[in-house]
Amino acid sequence: MELQVMIQTAGGFYFIVPFQVIKCKAAIAWEPNKPLVIEEVEVDPPQEKEVRIKVVASGLCQSDLYFLLKDMNKHLFPLILGHEAAGIVESVGKEVTEFQPGDKVIPLFISQCRECRFCKNPKTNLCEKGSVGEHDNIANSRITCKGKKVRQFMGTSTFSEYTVVNQIAVAKIDPAAPLEKVCLIGCGISTGFGAAVNVAKVEPGSTCAVFGLGAIGLAAVMGCKAAGAKRIIAVDINPDKAEKAKVLGATDFVNSKDHDKPISQVLTEMTTGGVDYSLECVGNVEVMRSALECCAPGWGVSVIVGYTNLHDITARPIQLMTGRTWKGTLFGGFKGKDGVPKMVKNYLDKKVKLDEFITHNMALDQVNDAIELLKQGKCIRTVLSVSPQ
Ligand SMILES: NC(=O)c1ccc[n+]([C@@H]2O[C@H](COP(=O)([O-])OP(=O)(O)OC[C@H]3O[C@@H](n4cnc5c(N)ncnc54)[C@H](O)[C@@H]3O)[C@@H](O)[C@H]2O)c1
Ligand SMILES: [Zn+2]
Ligand SMILES: [Zn+2]
Repeated sequence: MELQVMIQTAGGFYFIVPFQVIKCKAAIAWEPNKPLVIEEVEVDPPQEKEVRIKVVASGLCQSDLYFLLKDMNKHLFPLILGHEAAGIVESVGKEVTEFQPGDKVIPLFISQCRECRFCKNPKTNLCEKGSVGEHDNIANSRITCKGKKVRQFMGTSTFSEYTVVNQIAVAKIDPAAPLEKVCLIGCGISTGFGAAVNVAKVEPGSTCAVFGLGAIGLAAVMGCKAAGAKRIIAVDINPDKAEKAKVLGATDFVNSKDHDKPISQVLTEMTTGGVDYSLECVGNVEVMRSALECCAPGWGVSVIVGYTNLHDITARPIQLMTGRTWKGTLFGGFKGKDGVPKMVKNYLDKKVKLDEFITHNMALDQVNDAIELLKQGKCIRTVLSVSPQ
């Protein structure tokens, strides 16, 4: 007799035979700028080097919305969004030795193969074998809906009860980790925290400015504080964000809309000459320029964390000629397999906060409500329960 595993989903019971196709629920983005639709999908068994994951919890990040609502490149659709998640390994391919069913894991949108020229170089977290640029590879998708392959957004597609990911894009985490919290380490918290600590390399006693106080910016504030910054100026156009920023370590809040002067001038005056470090966590090229211009000449470092592919950045060369540095980062510079388990440990050891970022909890069926909240700036993070544990 074959061993069957029974799981309960919000939609009913499914009997699963390992190594067979799993039928389950997923939120499909059929077209740009349209609500997601909960559909039944078929998730293939893992191939030799792959891992099939039961997604337990997933956050919703502004990058998901960027492709759905701003970029709107029709060629990307249909797709399953979601890249900030935690789950449990359901089954593994024949050649997988690092994982086994039952392991708690976080899928990675930048893989770490440990073999390529990037993985071997401590200066970068890129990996030649997979990164955010490769989510257009629909031929490799392991998820089908109504007989049609559905793109696995960022290689992860965590708005699906099950997903299949290459073993190089999975991090094993502490079995004690609460998945409905540590899912945020899969993107937002690592990105913002790492941008301050790994990329800006904030120094003790320094002055920092963080533009944009969503999960990414708030995690950057937390990173600046952890690195010992003396003054952390949090900047947003939404005054509701001020309180949370202070909880995470900001010493000042500036609402750009309260000032007639350019915001870079406001910050330069507040700090008598400019900040040591600035982090742009909005995804707006004008704000990126302001973040550079509010840095102190001589040594100021500005890091681009927010994402857009629709506009070019501009700045006067003299800004850089006078000694400012302009950098950017994906995933806060963390190499995923190494960095993610450490961030999870930091949370369990109470060295980083996660609970403060979670303003809403919802079921996968309510994903469109979660999208609306993020669009309107009414949440920091909504965590979706994807599969019941
Ligand atoms: N680099 C990476 O690896 C990476 C990873 C995840 C997200 N991102 C990007 O980071 C950005 C932030 O993501 P999030 O999920 O925190 O988004 P979010 O929407 O929750 O937060 C953005 C914040 O920026 C504020 N804002 C808007 N315009 C502003 C302005 N002119 N000045 C100051 N603040 C302004 C908003 O009020 C909001 O509080 C997005 O662009 C996202 O795509 C990048
Ligand atoms: Zn993200
Ligand atoms: Zn690699």
